[in-house]
Amino acid sequence: MVTDGQDARSKSRAAQSPGNISRAEETSMSSSYAEFHRRSIEDRDAFWAEQARLIDWQTPPQTICDYSKPPFAKWFVGGTTNLCHNAVDRHLKDRADQPALIFVSTETGQEKVYTFRELHAEVQRMAAALQSLGVKKGDRVLIYMPMIAEACFAMLACTRVGALHCVVFGGFASGSLATRIDDAEPTVIISADAGSRGGKPVPYKHLLDEAIGLATHKPAAVLLVDRGLAPMNLVQGRDHPWGALREQHLNAQVPCEWVDATHPSYTLYTSGTTGKPKGVQRDTGGYAVALAASMKHIYCGNPGETYFSTSDIGWVVGHSYIIYGPLIGGMATIMYEGTPVRPDGGIWWQLVERYKVTVMFSAPTAIRVLKKQDPAYLTKYDLSSLRALFLAGEPLDEPTAQWISEGLKGKPIIDNYWQTETGWPILSLCNGVEKATSKFGSPGKAVYGYNVKLLDDQTGAELTEPNQKGVVAIEGPLPPGCMQTVWRDDARFVNTYWSSVPGKLVYSTFDWGIRDEDGYYFILGRTDDVINVAGHRLGTREIEEAIASHSNIAEVAVVGVADQLKGQVAMAFAVLKDASALNDEQAMLKLEGEVMKLVDGSLGAVARPARVRFVSVLPKTRSGKLLRRAVQAVCEGRDPGDLTTMEDPAALQQIRELVSQA
Ligand code: PRX
Repeated sequence: MVTDGQDARSKSRAAQSPGNISRAEETSMSSSYAEFHRRSIEDRDAFWAEQARLIDWQTPPQTICDYSKPPFAKWFVGGTTNLCHNAVDRHLKDRADQPALIFVSTETGQEKVYTFRELHAEVQRMAAALQSLGVKKGDRVLIYMPMIAEACFAMLACTRVGALHCVVFGGFASGSLATRIDDAEPTVIISADAGSRGGKPVPYKHLLDEAIGLATHKPAAVLLVDRGLAPMNLVQGRDHPWGALREQHLNAQVPCEWVDATHPSYTLYTSGTTGKPKGVQRDTGGYAVALAASMKHIYCGNPGETYFSTSDIGWVVGHSYIIYGPLIGGMATIMYEGTPVRPDGGIWWQLVERYKVTVMFSAPTAIRVLKKQDPAYLTKYDLSSLRALFLAGEPLDEPTAQWISEGLKGKPIIDNYWQTETGWPILSLCNGVEKATSKFGSPGKAVYGYNVKLLDDQTGAELTEPNQKGVVAIEGPLPPGCMQTVWRDDARFVNTYWSSVPGKLVYSTFDWGIRDEDGYYFILGRTDDVINVAGHRLGTREIEEAIASHSNIAEVAVVGVADQLKGQVAMAFAVLKDASALNDEQAMLKLEGEVMKLVDGSLGAVARPARVRFVSVLPKTRSGKLLRRAVQAVCEGRDPGDLTTMEDPAALQQIRELVSQA
């Protein structure tokens, strides 16, 4: 804990600009990771003032951390900077003609390398186009785009002019999109005619039109990239083709808008326990510093090298480690549209060879997909440039870690654990500080800046002994780069994340974990109703709401069930309003198809349950609470535990029978 006295001391030290930290002060610290972590907590402001030197500031910060109104932390107060400047302009001096963005689509066969100079020009064109459509500092711009270079230009153009981007994953459908449009109230939406999956176009425009139709808020303008993949009907006066606007602004010069460090750079929606997604709001200065520091201490990427993250811009990994992190670090970043197995299971390794990738970042599900491919792909290409493979987003099982470790001939496989809310790792190995070995099954130790605790879920007491299971929690202030608040809903930020332990202000991750005697953590799944399908975070409530909108569904329970490939899949059990056909197998299969279609249309195929089964009653307690954990246990063939509070024991029996038939 940082005491008040320490706070005051570090504040006065921090009153110097971060550039004033002396070399002696920097080198006086021990090189061991434990000491590095200790200092990040106990001498917080001096630590982060030092890290702040990794980025460019227009005005250096005056106060490193203002935590006068917990749990709201304000980082680098008084400082002004710009994310786009740090990602792009800053590198023009030393590496203008080096690759910055490498766009590869195995869907359309396109491959294009943009140097920092070219990226700078494209971003300015997009920024000018946005300004011409009325976008100003503080406005929101919603981005609903496939993995194309223009999506990167769009994000950087927003932060360049001080507008907030709100990227919505391209796999979401009109219902999800409409909810986000209404929450973000964007001035402009940027989209495209289509994405592509497995070589087939996935049209976007009709979903967007549908979503705008559903939403109460109407954007002033829509900017559309035409890839020539699907027809688009432009709405007169609202829709603007990017091609024409780009031509108009070919020589545009749009200077970076210097914003306060605390100015929000973006919101990104994520699922929780309720059906309404939360807009995670991120700042500017803290985020830039956190990412720059993580490139140095965690990912160990150097300027001039290539970073390859296989995620999507619709998720937090895409924000932090496709776009901002690598570019802030002066690295080239690969933006990949396609699957890991097309044209064949060697495509990612081929890219590692071609672009001399040094740092790669993916998800366990992707590795499990590759594991089913010919292992010869791992020896076919020259992977000597690769220093480490980072995996995150879902639990990394030991067999998968072992398989890829052997395949990559013992190169470090680094599991790292974090959340949309934090924006960068909570648990990892920090090999840039001190080399450590991975323990398979563990995402490593608490990362510097995070005061991680394990808490008893009933009493809130801290569990200090090794190997005790508790809720993973973080003592405030959250370090730089973490969420500032829930967009336009401070109360929701406090009530959701900081109120799980009565009388104690501590951030809950909603994950179970244990810590071993060496300080390595193991994550044991969520404490709430969030599920993780192939690394995609989904709320079971959102899926239930979509299913319940079917005219013949009275009630539904969705649970996450362990799956060999995807980690988890969603399983739905529904009670019908008219149950006369419940025993007619064909009729139920037809209904299952209808419900899945409904989910596809409302949320997107990503949220589609693996099965929808129909029952006459759902297992509930006598007070009417749905026994989800028991349903989940039965689906996974586990003991459902104490069922004495259950209203109707036959309810679980029906589910058991359905599962055993499958
Ligand atoms: O349950 C944890 C799981 O994914 C959740 C966060 O998902 P998301 O907001 O999409 O952010 C992903 C950022 C990488 C966590 O609460 N999770 C994430 N990483 C891991 C993990 N579970 C186990 N091991 C991990 N490395």
